[in-house]
Amino acid sequence: MKIIHDLNEIYAQIDFVRRDAKRIGLVPTMGALHAGHLSLVQRAKQDGEIAVATIFVNPTQFGPKDDLAKYPRTLDSDLTALREQGCDIVFVPPSDRIYSGSHSTFVEPPSVARRWEGELRPGHFRGVATIVLKLFQLIPAHVAYFGRKDYQQVAVIQAMVDDLNLPIRIEACETVREPDGLAMSSRNRYLSKEDRVRAVGLWRALSLAQRRLDAGENTRASLEAAMRAELEKAPVDSIDYAAIVHPGSMEPVEVVEESAIAIIAARVGSTRLIDNMTIMAKEVQRMERTE
Ligand code: PAF
Repeated sequence: MKIIHDLNEIYAQIDFVRRDAKRIGLVPTMGALHAGHLSLVQRAKQDGEIAVATIFVNPTQFGPKDDLAKYPRTLDSDLTALREQGCDIVFVPPSDRIYSGSHSTFVEPPSVARRWEGELRPGHFRGVATIVLKLFQLIPAHVAYFGRKDYQQVAVIQAMVDDLNLPIRIEACETVREPDGLAMSSRNRYLSKEDRVRAVGLWRALSLAQRRLDAGENTRASLEAAMRAELEKAPVDSIDYAAIVHPGSMEPVEVVEESAIAIIAARVGSTRLIDNMTIMAKEVQRMERTE
C-alpha cells in the first residue's frame, strides 16, 4: 500500500494508474475508520478497482460548535486497517497544502443542502462540497464511494457532480450496523456504556416508522410522532429532527405513497448521532423482491 502526502505525487500516481487502463475507486474519509469505511474499500476492490482512500480531517466542514480539535485522529490504526483490506493507495495531505493561508474559494452547495444538517450546521456542506471537489480534482477517479448513513451528504455530492458535470460516478453504499442496529460512526466511540444502550433508540425509531407504514399509517404527522415517541422512550437527550422526506429533494413529504426517507438527528449524552432508513409501502417492497 502506497502512502502519499504530496499533492503533485498523488496526481502523478493516479495519472500513471489511469494510463494503465485501470479503474480507480475513491474512498474519501476523515480517518477514525470503522467497519463502515472499510466496507467502502472492500466494495472498490470487489468492483475490480484500484482502491484509493483519503484521510483528511477537513477543517472547513466544522462549525464553531463542532470541536475540530477533539475529532479522533487514529492514523496508525487507520493505515493498518486499510492495508488489511487491500487498499492500494492512501492519500494523507498536510492541511496547509489543501488550504493555503490565502484560500478563499468555496463551493456554493446545492439546494438539497438547505434543510436538516445544512440548517443546523451552517457552513457544513459548503466545507464538504469544497473538500470533495478538491479531492475529485487531485484524484480523478472513475467512482467515489460514500456511506448512505450520511444520506444528505451523499445527496449534496451527487447534486454537485450533476450540476458541475463532474466526470465521476457516485456510489452510495449501505450503512453498516452493529448487531443491535446502531449505525457505525466515528462518533460512537464517544458514547459511554449507558449512552451506547440508549443510542440504539435511533434505529428502533426508524424501524418503527417502517412497521407503522406496513400497518397502513402513511402520513408524515403520524410517522414522525411515532419516531419521536420511540426516541423519547430510549431516552435520547434531545432530538434535532425526526422527519419523513423525499428521497431526491429531501423536502418533507405529507403522505408516503411509495417510498420516502426517514431521517433522525438526536443527541445521546454529549454525542450527536444521525441515521436514516428508506421506508417503503408494501406494494413497493413486493416489487423490489420480484425484481
Ligand atoms: O464523510 C466524511 O467523512 C467527510 O464528510 C468527507 C466526505 C470525507 C469530506 O471531508
